[in-house]
Amino acid sequence: MKGFLFIHNYYHSISFVQTHQSMEFIKVTEQKEPFVALVELNRPKELNALNRQLMVELLEALQALDKNEQVRAIVLTGNEQAFAAGADIKQMADQSAIDMLMVDQFSTWDMIRKTKKPIVAAVSGFALGGGCELSMMCDTIIASETAKFGQPEIKIGTIPGAGGTQRLTKAVGKAKAMELILTGRFLSAQEALFYGLVCKVVPVEVYLQEALTLAKEIAQMSPIAVQLAKEAINRSFETQLDEGLAFERKNFYLTFASADQKEGMKAFVEKRKPHYTGK
Ligand code: CAA
Repeated sequence: MKGFLFIHNYYHSISFVQTHQSMEFIKVTEQKEPFVALVELNRPKELNALNRQLMVELLEALQALDKNEQVRAIVLTGNEQAFAAGADIKQMADQSAIDMLMVDQFSTWDMIRKTKKPIVAAVSGFALGGGCELSMMCDTIIASETAKFGQPEIKIGTIPGAGGTQRLTKAVGKAKAMELILTGRFLSAQEALFYGLVCKVVPVEVYLQEALTLAKEIAQMSPIAVQLAKEAINRSFETQLDEGLAFERKNFYLTFASADQKEGMKAFVEKRKPHYTGK
């Protein structure tokens, strides 16, 4: 009965969010740069701990931005102190395995991965547990020098549940992933760069601007080509080489159905800048 009430309340809170489009825990700025949207996690007192409502709001925002033709790239950030310190421990602490199974909170997280537009994570401070996992679900990560990545779930008697054992291992290799996940140690920004978890480390004063600049540069490309390239890169995590190459080839050919490919190659021949329309 307790479980039923909890689930009922949870779904009630989802439908509240959907009906009223209320965004209590995130902020969305649509044109932070031309064709670039900024999504900020906004639960600062709890170090942006990712409670279920926040994740539902985030998913809704990303789905809306995915459909918005004025947006071609997205930056996801927290604040200087924390990108996110993990899933909300207080929300999970007393739950039974069956509560967790029935609520299935990670199905929301799985859908975030389906976002077609590129997402650049701008990470400063703590990116721990679900926060680290969320940053790894983005397409690339710009880190401030103060960023600390980690999967400290082992210290609270559990293990990563939103992809940490899989994505961190693919990003940094088995030996380092084992060390980090089995001890809960943090990875500094410089180490994260060394292991290929992040694409760039910059001073804390400029990490967000650096991420916006990267997103702006991506947003100047053909959005169709960007989407097809993102899809093909992500496919490399899920397939054998032959299958991945075949997928890439099909997406490559598919770009030739776009006006943007004609424009891009024509502009090269005519020695001018291309103008992409996303068609
Ligand atoms: N869930 C809920 N609340 C959290 C939180 C989390 N993951 N992380 C921080 N908070 C809250 C704290 O409880 C505290 O709230 P109160 O002021 O109400 O007590 C507030 O944020 C500030 O945190 P601290 O006082 O602890 O700040 P600190 O600077 O001393 O320590 C920290 C910072 C090292 C990040 C520490 O907060 C911490 O260890 N947080 C938990 C990290 C963690 O274990 N994350 C994994 C969560 S499980 C998970 O994510 C599973 C999954 O795979 C999805």
